[in-house]
Amino acid sequence: MLFGVCFCADDEDAFMLVPEIIAKYGYPVEEHFVTTADGYIVNLHRIPYGKDGVSENRPAVLVMHGVSSSSADFIIAGPDKALGYVLADAGYDVWLGNSRGNRYSRNHTYLSPDTDKKKFWDFSFHQLAVFDLPAMIDHITATTAQEKIFYVGHSQGTTIFYVLCSEKPEYNDRFRAHFSLSPVVYMHNLDSVPFQTMSWYHKQLEYFVNLYGAYEYGNVNDPSHAASQQYCNSTNVIHQEYCKTLIFMNSGYNEDQFNYTLLPITMGHTPAGISMFQVIHFFQECRSDHFRQYDYGLTENMVVYGQANPPDYNLANVVAPVYLFYSKNDYLSNEKDVLRLNSELPNVKALMLMSDPLWTHLDYLWGIDAKTIVYQPLIDLMNAN
Ligand SMILES: *[C@@H]1O[C@H](CO)[C@@H](O)[C@H](O)[C@H]1NC(C)=O
Ligand SMILES: *[C@@H]1O[C@H](CO)[C@@H](O)[C@H](O)[C@H]1NC(C)=O
Ligand SMILES: *[C@@H]1O[C@H](CO)[C@@H](O)[C@H](O)[C@H]1NC(C)=O
Repeated sequence: MLFGVCFCADDEDAFMLVPEIIAKYGYPVEEHFVTTADGYIVNLHRIPYGKDGVSENRPAVLVMHGVSSSSADFIIAGPDKALGYVLADAGYDVWLGNSRGNRYSRNHTYLSPDTDKKKFWDFSFHQLAVFDLPAMIDHITATTAQEKIFYVGHSQGTTIFYVLCSEKPEYNDRFRAHFSLSPVVYMHNLDSVPFQTMSWYHKQLEYFVNLYGAYEYGNVNDPSHAASQQYCNSTNVIHQEYCKTLIFMNSGYNEDQFNYTLLPITMGHTPAGISMFQVIHFFQECRSDHFRQYDYGLTENMVVYGQANPPDYNLANVVAPVYLFYSKNDYLSNEKDVLRLNSELPNVKALMLMSDPLWTHLDYLWGIDAKTIVYQPLIDLMNAN
């Protein structure tokens, strides 16, 4: 159904929340609210077991989404397709995290995301790593009594793992293994033209964000959210092709793996909400070719870091076992950058090149054959660890 739109029952998934969707498909689901050391309240969605029912000794796995996404990434493709369900059916206790600022974690013990904007949204991916992740991991350990857990990250979900393990090396010990689906650390060689182009203007962007107080991006209550969902759900072929092309320009072209039926559903869940400083921090990485902390500019860097340039994250600290899943057609994770990461990490167990040469950034989530190309090899490695 190349140009068709399926007005099937699943369309309602675009308007439902993640725990409702999981329950609708007959899986058990729990919501866990966790408070970070700096007062944010982040929300984990847990699928404690799969279709086979309750069993003992289910290893816990934390799964972290990419920038401007949410736990929805790992369930909207549906049972037997989406990673969340596939992991639960494979015997794992699945914890889908939500980083601060997205629709499920837009919450704080004393700051309001709407009336204390400047303070609430003052974070980049650094804070997601050093505050949100420790709170989530400690909570999973406290709940399951498992000292060590698995961690699967996609895109920014990988970035924050490397930041955490370099900044708080004591957390290395808490992972049985980490799996990077499309590692995003070095970003100088990205093929995404829109992303590269915008990255040149990160200083101007930061100026405007501060000037207008436009810190938050992708609030689901924003009218543009429903509009883009409607637009991409149109029976108009031109609209659908336009939406698809925008996605391909940013993430890579792979016609065979693109599921049109999923398009309006994904648009209902993405963007899920971020701070613009996350994006600006990524843009800085594109330009600097460093993996390092937020660049505030010379004067403020002296105040914050005591040096002119932000400090690099020390990848030599990342001693947890790591598996890198990558491809040669991923516009947001270039092979050269992945190989550089591989050469600087002390404990890479395997470099997994995806068998489809056209595999893209979003195919890890929504590719029609993601289960056979990514999830099955992933689970085989998890079972062996
Ligand atoms: C496309 O997505 C829909 C909705 O999740 C699903 O029912 C369908 O099986 C998918 N198509 C393929 C070819 O995987
Ligand atoms: C904020 O967190 C509390 C738990 O501390 C939760 O009950 C509430 O629903 C959350 N609010 C939002 C808007 O997520
Ligand atoms: C797509 O459009 C149809 C017809 O207007 C509507 O019934 C359906 O709810 C829409 N789905 C989404 C996900 O927007």
